[in-house]
Amino acid sequence: EALEKGGYDHFMLKEIHEQPRSIRDCFRGRLNVAEGWVSLGGIKDYENKLIAAPRLIMVACGTSWHACTVGEYLIEDLARINVEVEYASEFRYRNPIITENDIVIAVSQSGETADTLAALELAKSKGATILGICNVVGSSISRITDAGSYTHAGPEIGVASTKAFTAQVTVLTLMALMLAHKKGTISESKYRTLLAELDAIPEKVQKVLDSSDKLIQDIASLYSKATNALYLGRGNCFPVALEGALKLKEISYIHAEGYPAAEMKHGPIALIDEEMPVFVIATQGPSYEKVVSNIQEVKARKGKVVAIVTEGDVHVKAMADQVIEIPKTDEHLVPLLATIPFQLLSYYIAIMRGCNVDQPRNLAKSVTVE
Ligand code: G6P
Repeated sequence: EALEKGGYDHFMLKEIHEQPRSIRDCFRGRLNVAEGWVSLGGIKDYENKLIAAPRLIMVACGTSWHACTVGEYLIEDLARINVEVEYASEFRYRNPIITENDIVIAVSQSGETADTLAALELAKSKGATILGICNVVGSSISRITDAGSYTHAGPEIGVASTKAFTAQVTVLTLMALMLAHKKGTISESKYRTLLAELDAIPEKVQKVLDSSDKLIQDIASLYSKATNALYLGRGNCFPVALEGALKLKEISYIHAEGYPAAEMKHGPIALIDEEMPVFVIATQGPSYEKVVSNIQEVKARKGKVVAIVTEGDVHVKAMADQVIEIPKTDEHLVPLLATIPFQLLSYYIAIMRGCNVDQPRNLAKSVTVE
């Protein structure tokens, strides 16, 4: 087992550090910056159907649902296709409206999650096209779907998903770019810029891992005894906040909630006091100013703010208790970078609390029963 962990103390830490490679593997044969194209071979035959679809329905559970929500922001914004993200367990039991024109896409690391599989079977029985984005090759979902794309993250052993999440987001980003280009909803120059920016992501992930590890250990030691934590983000970083909160609760058993930053004032703000860490994604982009004012609201109530900011930021730095810098990238790709510090933070907090990070209590890697 020590050998399998490749020198790391835990599978989770190893898998976090594998992400520059796993994201790169996910690009293989699908992204060519020099020639200027993106292609997902597995769903090539469905491209026309996808761009003509009135809507795409994504079904998933857990972390995979968070990846779908990032995908929703990207596909709607770049390709202008309506996307609905559904918890598979809710979708399957609420007599959903599904027609033969619908395309239902399941996203699942294991490809075996019972609710996701059942949601797909239901969609299939109503005549919808069913596609899959899975990590495990030959899994049940990959077998029942009409077509799909593998995430190629390699085996994920840690129960808390890390590299499988970023691989899912990567595939959904490739899909958004492919659809946007084919549909003509983004300019050729924007497309080219995004391809180059995406290609640079693995090395930027590596930079985050190298530059922030020690800092994150220090931050973890400040908050390891917290009983509650709030995660805030806006736009495509709202699901990153959800995923950050999920990681923390899964492995450290600290109660954590993810919220769209502006929703904080509709409830969670009541929880803020001097003990409460608030983790905020405050990177440069369209909602930067708005997030800054959300940070001010937290500080006015004496909350502790840990912000993820774009390299070189000075404004948030002056307000927050701690900041973690990530390299600059296009706003559409920020989730792939901003998620990394949250993974490390939950890992180190869980270690400091003496938790079993690879096998947290009550959780299973794959939930094959309802
Ligand atoms: C379990 C795992 C999670 C995972 C979820 C969905 O809860 O612990 O890490 O996100 O199932 O699994 P799937 O294999 O469908 O992505």
